Amino acid sequence: MEEKIKELRAAIEQASADVTDKARLSDFWQKYLSKNGEVAGLTKSLRDVPKEDRPAVGKTINEFKQWAEAQYQALSEQVEKAALEARNAAETVDITMPAKIRQTGSLHPITLVKNEIIDVFAGMGFEIYEGPEIEDDDHNFTRLNVPKNHPARDMQDTFYVADDIVLRTQTSGGQIRVMDMEKPPIKVLAPGRVFRSDSDATHSPMFHQMEGLVVDKGITLCDLQGMLDKFVQALFGADVKTRLRPSYFPFTEPSVEVDVSCFECGGKGCPLCKHTGWIEVLGAGVVHHSVLENCGIDPNVYSGFAFGIGIERIAMLKYGINNIGLMFENDLRFLKQFED
Ligand code: PHE
Repeated sequence: MEEKIKELRAAIEQASADVTDKARLSDFWQKYLSKNGEVAGLTKSLRDVPKEDRPAVGKTINEFKQWAEAQYQALSEQVEKAALEARNAAETVDITMPAKIRQTGSLHPITLVKNEIIDVFAGMGFEIYEGPEIEDDDHNFTRLNVPKNHPARDMQDTFYVADDIVLRTQTSGGQIRVMDMEKPPIKVLAPGRVFRSDSDATHSPMFHQMEGLVVDKGITLCDLQGMLDKFVQALFGADVKTRLRPSYFPFTEPSVEVDVSCFECGGKGCPLCKHTGWIEVLGAGVVHHSVLENCGIDPNVYSGFAFGIGIERIAMLKYGINNIGLMFENDLRFLKQFED
């Protein structure tokens, strides 16, 4: 019997080395520890042992059985641990992998320029007013000194929504709305979308303007030019200056076109300024006395100036964009160039 136990112990020790997974662990148990296993076989063969030796041999078999069970327990823990380690390794997150970058949007060049203009004028005490995009004939034309059948209406070929309702052709209607609500001193900026039946490389049927209006006692073109100088210097550089040229708008008298000295060549002449040294940037003028009267403001006491900036035009000049269409195509290759 001693001999048999020795052999079985050696067999179990050898078999243990092969138990590397659950299936083999189960085979091990079947072969050695189950009811019909080899360890149970030892107990059965106790019958053949002489009666007087049985207690001692039985004790030896029992001890061996305990050893074999402990062996199985250790193997089982080993297999369990290996399985857990394998699972952990498979589920590991590699924290050194580059993260997925979430795309963030950025401000549109029109918005950037609009904010920049607002910043400059807000610093001079201007407030912001936003009027309606669908405007009545009265605010868009008539009270701005452009009565029905006035030829100046042709300058702004218009989208009519109904008989006397238009998609506003200019933000100048905001002047009327502000002067109806407030009395001087007035200092407002009215940014917004405007619409005209007009389309080519530098014109779009929808574009943005920034109206400016100042009304107070003793306001003159000098005040206009002083403020516009500050404005162009903030946008195009400290060295640039403005030039006023006579022009015509029905709601200002006198009216001017405002040019900025070419920031590309410094005024010597280059393709950007078409070799003139000057670039036209906006229209402006002294508010027409009829417009003040139309809003119940006495032109003998008060005077004012107004200007209208085309935001696309400023953005195109500032960023060197040669086609206005690019602004509205939503091509990310274009828009990404304006990220901070
Ligand atoms: N509203 C004019 C235009 O759209 C611009 C302008 C505004 C001119 C204010 C003078 C004063 O062309």
